[in-house]
Amino acid sequence: MSLAWGHRYLMCPAEHFGVLYEINPWMSREVPADPSRSLAQWETLVETLRDAGAEVEILGSVDDLPDMVFTANAGLVWGERFVPSRFTHPERAGEEPHYRRWFRTNGWSITELHNRPHFEGAGDALPFRDRIIAGYRIRSEFEAHTALAKALNVEVLSLELVDPRFYHVDLTFCPLDDRRALCVPSAWDSYGRDVVKAVVPEPIDLEPDEALSFCANSVVIGDVIVMPSCSDRLRSLLSDFDVRVCPVDEFLKAGGGVRCLTLALDVGAH
Ligand code: ARG
Repeated sequence: MSLAWGHRYLMCPAEHFGVLYEINPWMSREVPADPSRSLAQWETLVETLRDAGAEVEILGSVDDLPDMVFTANAGLVWGERFVPSRFTHPERAGEEPHYRRWFRTNGWSITELHNRPHFEGAGDALPFRDRIIAGYRIRSEFEAHTALAKALNVEVLSLELVDPRFYHVDLTFCPLDDRRALCVPSAWDSYGRDVVKAVVPEPIDLEPDEALSFCANSVVIGDVIVMPSCSDRLRSLLSDFDVRVCPVDEFLKAGGGVRCLTLALDVGAH
């Protein structure tokens, strides 16, 4: 059965996007983003998502917050509730009030995590069936998972992220439907690998080159999958999906792909 969520997203235009600091291994100030290509790629992604049947809401971008384009890290939506992020790096902390304001004014109730642990939102927390698969160590703290489980009354399964190149769980895990997910097991500790084996009936493990081109950082809208790139191998494994490749190489320079540029607004509402 296809995913019950993934039909409504929040995105933030790339007007102020840039590689202005280095907080993950992909970012280098010596490899700056091209502003007009970034804008064009972002616009194409919005069109591709809308064309696939998704609704896209827009949050205004803010000067001096170059990573705000990665709305996956705003927080986590769970039904009518919004759990705001608390960023690990001070470079991104300035984004927090803007996300809170948008969710408050758009009718969500804000749920704070107990003791305010570091938590980077949907970038580190993805629903699979009735659970949340969450990543910790590099950005979000383990404490955020226990706090999340308690606040939302949901089972949170924790994967320790062990490869700095895959610093958010959404670079390593992509739910496809109620049986399958794209997976990068080498980015998880052995406990995490067992957890995914136990709850995902048909995992599709990515090859190293697929993982490194952020194939797991894709967006699924029913039977459409919008990917930053796709190998022939993966395309044949995903033969029942309508695969639409949307190049976002300007954003890869900052360590983000298709999924990072979106925040699902219809999670946990079913
Ligand atoms: N430059 C951003 C950072 O390091 C990229 C965020 C990517 N987001 C994601 N959900 N994986 O925070």
